[in-house]
Amino acid sequence: MRLIVAITGASGVIYGKRMLEVLRRKNVETHLVISKAGEKVIEHELDASKSDLKKLANYVYDMDDWSAPIVSGSFKTDGMVIIPCSMKTLAGIAHGYSDNIILRAADVTLKEKRKLIIVPRETPLSAIHLRNMLELAEENVTIVPAMPAYYHEPKGIDDLVDFVVGKVLDLLGIKHTLTKGWSNRTPK
Ligand SMILES: Cc1cc2nc3c(=O)[nH]c(=O)nc-3n(C[C@H](O)[C@H](O)[C@H](O)COP(=O)(O)O)c2cc1C
Repeated sequence: MRLIVAITGASGVIYGKRMLEVLRRKNVETHLVISKAGEKVIEHELDASKSDLKKLANYVYDMDDWSAPIVSGSFKTDGMVIIPCSMKTLAGIAHGYSDNIILRAADVTLKEKRKLIIVPRETPLSAIHLRNMLELAEENVTIVPAMPAYYHEPKGIDDLVDFVVGKVLDLLGIKHTLTKGWSNRTPK
C-alpha cells in the first residue's frame, strides 16, 4: 500500500506522528509532507522534532517542491490522509486552490477518485468551516474530526490519540489493535 500523509498546522500533530508510527510498522509506503505551519505546531506540541517525524516516513517532500511525484495523477497511490488538517488546508481543497503541494496532492487525489481522509481540528466551527466540510463530504472526502470517544475507557492521552488514528486505519482497511471495538468493551 502507498499513501500520501500530510501534517498541517492544526493543533493535534500528535495524531500525525502516531499515524506515521503505525503505518511504518504495517509496512505501508508513506510519502510525507509537513506544512510550514505544521512545523511550527510540532515545535509547540511535541517533544519530538520535525526531523524525528520525517524519519518515520519512506519519502519526504518540502511544501514547495513542485518536482515531487505526488503532484501528478500519474503517480499511483492508494490515497491520502491529512492528519491533522487545518481549516486553511480544508478551505483550499474545497475550493481547488492548489498553491502548495499538500493542496495539489489532495486535488489530484480527488480528481483521480482516490481515497482522501482528512482529520480536521478546530473549535468552535464557523459556518464557513462547516460549508467547506460539506463541499468535501459531497466529493466523497472522508472527514474524521479529531474528536475521540470515551466509551473505550481511555487511560490517558495516548488512548485518545489511538482512538482517532484507529478510526482512520479502519477506513483505510488496515487491521490494528489500537482500540477495542464496542463489542469488546467491559460493561460497568
Ligand atoms: C500553535 C498553533 C496552533 C494552531 N491550531 C490550529 C487549529 O487547531 N486549527 C486550525 O485550523 N488552525 C490552527 N492554527 C492556524 C494554522 O496553523 C494557520 O491557519 C496556517 O495558515 C495553516 O496552514 P497550513 O494549512 O498550510 O498548515 C494554529 C496555529 C498555531 C501556530
